[in-house]
Amino acid sequence: MSARAIATSSPAEVPTSAPALLSVVIPTFNERGNVREIVARLHRALAGIAWEAIFVDDDSPDGTAEVVKDVATEDRRVRCLKRLGRRGLAGACIEGMLASSATYVAVMDADQQHDETILPRMLATLAADEADLVVGSRYVAGGSAGSFTPERAKLSRTATNLARRLLGVDLSDPMSGFFMLRRDQLDDVAAELSPVGFKILLDIVLTAKNRLRVTEIPYEFRERTHGRSKFDAAIALEFAGLALAKLTGGVIDPRFISFALVGTTGLAVHLVILRFAFESFAFKFWLAQTIATFAALVSNFLLNNRLTYYDRRLSGWRLITGFLGFCLIGAAGAVTNVGLASWLYSQEPTWWLAGAAGAIMGALWNYSMSSQFVWRTR
Ligand code: GDD
Ligand code: MN
Repeated sequence: MSARAIATSSPAEVPTSAPALLSVVIPTFNERGNVREIVARLHRALAGIAWEAIFVDDDSPDGTAEVVKDVATEDRRVRCLKRLGRRGLAGACIEGMLASSATYVAVMDADQQHDETILPRMLATLAADEADLVVGSRYVAGGSAGSFTPERAKLSRTATNLARRLLGVDLSDPMSGFFMLRRDQLDDVAAELSPVGFKILLDIVLTAKNRLRVTEIPYEFRERTHGRSKFDAAIALEFAGLALAKLTGGVIDPRFISFALVGTTGLAVHLVILRFAFESFAFKFWLAQTIATFAALVSNFLLNNRLTYYDRRLSGWRLITGFLGFCLIGAAGAVTNVGLASWLYSQEPTWWLAGAAGAIMGALWNYSMSSQFVWRTR
């Protein structure tokens, strides 16, 4: 079936009140400069098709949601789903797709980096039942990663290869945020999808256990015109966490992996500060050790705030109270750790086994308590 065959009639005759055949879900965070342009582009690309755009905005400080609502007052095809107190690209995509009652749903970035002109082809492929999932790919013949900086291109390729090898997904661009599927197919997997991070497509494919027939359509990744990318170290770390979590069959929580990695850097910070305080500044050992411990606590707290819990980041006054809570939890964690390790040692006197078990227990305690009390979901 061609894209034209899906169009009900000539462009002008599609009433905007007709139920949408295709919902285009557009996650946004600080994209106010891109809203009008992306809507105009959808009008051009999808003329003759009953479509709607669902913007999912995480309460962007730049007022993106207000711009979307302005556009929506003039354009019945546009609506805005605003989420409060939450951050996360994957979660925004999931909620946007679930809000759709169309037959097909697509996910596309707001910043015009995804080529909306391939949407009709994606739709035609699904409508002809040639695939269950159609992915816009930068890495099949005819596609290109375009304007990526060399570092970002390398990171993207590494993550892609890692995902393909470790997770066994047969996708050339598993990190793509540009795809379309039948709306009812989402319901089968939605409850198991993770709302954090950037890897929504990968998560859908893995959760469906490769049951979906996938077709990839090439496109050229465009340059961003307005605003800035939200892809950063936190997203990359979280991706590593997801890969490990899936590898361990979901036993390990991806966020815990990030927490544990941050803890490891804390040890390095501790030793470096200790060396300077003790050797270079000739402080008494107990004082040097105290300063190093405090520095490691502050560094762990700030890194966790920046990376592990980036979606629940604390600021202002809550940064201070959060730090105090973090220290208290850490102190209690140390008591738990020493208590458990001592008991284990009395049962089975292997120092490293008892020591490691205590340390792991302490880390799990710190993680679960911090997640509940310091960086709790509002
Ligand atoms: N609601 C919501 N919440 N939207 C978000 C969030 C969030 O926390 N973070 C990012 N977005 C939106 C952006 O506003 C944009 O529309 C889209 O998600 C993609 O974000 P970018 O910041 O533009 O990502 P990118 O261009 O660096 O990343 C591209 O490559 C990734 C893989 O390499 C995108 O194509 C991603 O979709 C893709 O996963
Ligand atoms: Mn982008």
